[in-house]
Amino acid sequence: MEITLSIIKADVGGYVGHSDVHPELRRKAVEQLEKAKKNGLIIDFSQGEVGDDIALIMTHQKGVENEEIHKFAWDTFTAMTEVAKEFGQYGAGQDLLVDAFSGNLKGMGPGFAEMTFNERPSEPVIIFLADKTEPGAWNMPLFRMFADPFNTIGLVIDPSMHDGFRFEVHDLIDEKKIIFNCPEEMYDMLVFIGSPSRFVIKHVFRKSSDEPVAVTSTQRLFLMAGRYIGKDDPVMAVRCQSGLPAVGEVVEPFAFPHAVAGWMRGSHHGPLMPVALEDDTPTRFDGPPRVVGRGFQLKDGKLIGPRDMLGDKSFDNARQLALDAADYLRRHGPFEPHRLPLDEMEYTTMPSVMKKLKDRFLPA
Ligand code: 13P
Ligand code: 13P
Ligand code: MG
Ligand code: MG
Repeated sequence: MEITLSIIKADVGGYVGHSDVHPELRRKAVEQLEKAKKNGLIIDFSQGEVGDDIALIMTHQKGVENEEIHKFAWDTFTAMTEVAKEFGQYGAGQDLLVDAFSGNLKGMGPGFAEMTFNERPSEPVIIFLADKTEPGAWNMPLFRMFADPFNTIGLVIDPSMHDGFRFEVHDLIDEKKIIFNCPEEMYDMLVFIGSPSRFVIKHVFRKSSDEPVAVTSTQRLFLMAGRYIGKDDPVMAVRCQSGLPAVGEVVEPFAFPHAVAGWMRGSHHGPLMPVALEDDTPTRFDGPPRVVGRGFQLKDGKLIGPRDMLGDKSFDNARQLALDAADYLRRHGPFEPHRLPLDEMEYTTMPSVMKKLKDRFLPA
C-alpha cells in the first residue's frame, strides 16, 4: 500500500512566551484533524508538539506537496491562530507569513516534511520534532544514522545496508540541491553539511531505489520573511529496521547533545537536549533547544502510537551533559561562540545597530 506521511508544523502562538502551547490550541488542532479523518481527506493523524510548535502528523494517499493537504494544514493553523488571539497567546500567527493560501505551503511559513513510500509489513517510523533551532540541526544525527559505522553497526554487519545510502543536500541560500553517495563521497559531503546554517540534508534514499527513507523540513523563516520572526523549529521523519538503521541506531545520535543554532532570540548556540514528551518546554533562556521523538508502527496507513522514544532513562546522561553545556555556554553571555557570529545575526537587530553607527566608523 502506497502511503504519504506528511508532517506539517507551525508556531501560531506561545504559552507562556515561547515555551509551550495552550491546551485550547491543541484542542482546535485535534478537532480539525478529526474532521479531516472523518471526511476521508486523511487516513490517520497524531497531533505532535514541542515547545511552542504544533505538528500535524498525517497519513494519506494524495502524495507530497498536495494542494488539499497543504490547504487543510493552512486552514487549521489559521483557525488555531484565532484561538491564540482569543487567549492572548504570544506571537499569535507567528509563522503564517502570507495573507492567503495559494497552491502549496512553500514560502508561506509553516514547515513540512513529507514522503511517499510502499508501507512494509512492519513499518517503524520515528518522528523527531525540535524547538529553538534550525533545519541544519538534523545534519549531524542523519549523518550518524546513515553514514557513521561508529553509530550504526548495521552499515558494517547488515549485508542489506553495507552499500550505504544516498543523501540529498539542499543549499538554502542558492536554492540548489545535490546528491551525495556515501560512503564514497562522505568527505565531500561533510564539507557542506558541516555548515548547517546553509546546507541541509533534505532526504536520505537507499542506493537501490528512489523511495525516501528519511525526510526533513527545510524552511528558513528569516529567508522568507527577510527579518527575524522566530526560529524554524524543524521536523524529521525516519523509517527504521529491515535494511535501514534499527530503531536503536536511529535514536543513538541523540545520546550526544550536539551544539545547534537557535535558543534565545534565535541568536545563540546551545546543546540540542533530548527530552521526554512531557518535558518539551524550553524555559531557561528560552531553552536549551530540545528534541522529542514520537515512534509509530504504521499499519495500512494507521499511526499505531506514539511511543515516547527519547524519554527513556538511557538518555539521562545526554540530558545532564546538555545542562552542563548550557551552563558553560551561558557564561559567555553576549560573546561568541555562544552568540551566533555576526553574519548569521544579519536578520536580527544587528542591521539597525550597524546603520546607527555607520558614520562613527572612521578609517583605521
Ligand atoms: P532487522 O534488521 O531485522 O530489522 O533487526 C535489527 C535489529 O533490530 C537489531 O537491533
Ligand atoms: P520560537 O522560534 O520557538 O518562537 O522562539 C523564538 C524566540 O525568539 C525564543 O527566544
Ligand atoms: Mg514562538
Ligand atoms: Mg518554536
